[in-house]
Amino acid sequence: MPLMSRVALTLGLTLGAAAAPNSIAAPKGAESLTLALLGDYGWTGWQPLPLDFCNNVLSKLEADGVEIPKAILNDCDAGDRLDISNATIEETRTARYIEKVCLKKNCDAFVSVGDNFYDSGVDFTSEGIQRFYEGWADMYVGEAFDNKTWYQALGNHDVVAGQAGVDFQTSLAPLFDDRWYFGHDNLPYYTYDLTGSDWTATFVVVDSDCFINKYQVNTSVYNTDYVISCHKETQKQVDFLRESFAKSDATWKILQIHHGYISSSTNYTELNPLMEIVRENNAVVINGHDHCLAHYQYEGTDFVLTGGAGYAEAGDCNYGVPIGPYAKWLGADADQAANGFVTLDIDRSALNFEYYARDMRMKGADYYVVKDEMKPSYSFAVTKHATKA
Ligand SMILES: *[C@@H]1O[C@H](CO)[C@@H](O)[C@H](O)[C@H]1NC(C)=O
Ligand SMILES: *[C@@H]1O[C@H](CO)[C@@H](O)[C@H](O)[C@H]1NC(C)=O
Ligand SMILES: *[C@@H]1O[C@H](CO)[C@@H](O)[C@H](O)[C@H]1NC(C)=O
Ligand SMILES: *[C@@H]1O[C@H](CO)[C@@H](O)[C@H](O)[C@H]1NC(C)=O
Repeated sequence: MPLMSRVALTLGLTLGAAAAPNSIAAPKGAESLTLALLGDYGWTGWQPLPLDFCNNVLSKLEADGVEIPKAILNDCDAGDRLDISNATIEETRTARYIEKVCLKKNCDAFVSVGDNFYDSGVDFTSEGIQRFYEGWADMYVGEAFDNKTWYQALGNHDVVAGQAGVDFQTSLAPLFDDRWYFGHDNLPYYTYDLTGSDWTATFVVVDSDCFINKYQVNTSVYNTDYVISCHKETQKQVDFLRESFAKSDATWKILQIHHGYISSSTNYTELNPLMEIVRENNAVVINGHDHCLAHYQYEGTDFVLTGGAGYAEAGDCNYGVPIGPYAKWLGADADQAANGFVTLDIDRSALNFEYYARDMRMKGADYYVVKDEMKPSYSFAVTKHATKA
């Protein structure tokens, strides 16, 4: 590592620790900063509902006209029931892996792309509070995580609990733990700037759940009061993105959302109104939802998929096989997707993305082989500065 960036990283770390609780002020004045980007992680502590209830009782209740809360329906999900045991192990091991890499790289802050709590989010109930600690607050501890801000976003699993779940994450969680950041307006969308000695990066967080058409079907588990209502106001978030980017003279502009506009499994094309603004500003997109790591380049925009911090799924990255030339790198093979995360080193000359994939071992078997997991499996740089639309 060159001496200058060593100095800068040290500076960044020191100043980062000094940031006020819930402050929007980023570690300031450093030549370069390092962020950890991750998503789709919060499985630990989730307990599927008893099989007897899901298989026998639920249908009787439904036949009797009882209205079943979406969170209860979702907590019977058969696929997630199968996944939970491995998912818990993988979240925990990946957290320790992130810690190791971030200790080495001096991560200054964490950027989440949502799905913070499987299977049905958390709300202000005893269970929600328990889950908040188990899946996040007590999970991401240690020197690499201490006092580091997490710029949070919502994913589809977070909105199953409806408005109460959204309120918990946007308004209450920041009071539980100073690291949990969700803007200052108690809204699921917000903007923040990170500032270096000679550069600025404007991030805008939008809740993509509100844009997804299939969540508006009443049989969808995501069709909650919150999703029905925010779908009617997607223009608000589109305008927010446009205005936040328009006001910003930043060197770099980044949209932070959950769903993938371009993907190896499902393209959420309904996000196009956001993408037009991204293209006009020469911004970069960071997203999750697909449970794997990938780099896509599409219509002139770079997309960083960072969905591998919990239960990794090879199908979400098409088993490592690019569907088209837009897939620049996929963190998966025919059997397994990599657990891991992405680091972003920001300075004036470039956004440097490094993809860290974990060497995944379980029961003696190495089921995703990474020769040296302390080195990035893939990296790329964005050097073209943002423009002002
Ligand atoms: C859990 O992990 C083990 C070890 O890799 C694997 O054999 C098993 O198939 C996994 N189970 C699921 C449901 O993914
Ligand atoms: C984190 O903040 C607390 C309270 O301000 C402080 O006591 C502690 O030393 C800090 N830890 C680190 C690693 O900076
Ligand atoms: C969903 O909507 C359809 C038609 O609009 C209605 O007949 C049905 O009862 C609704 N189902 C639920 C679970 O609300
Ligand atoms: C997503 O869009 C790309 C680019 O148009 C296309 O090549 C790919 O087949 C689409 N993927 C799916 C799963 O529809």
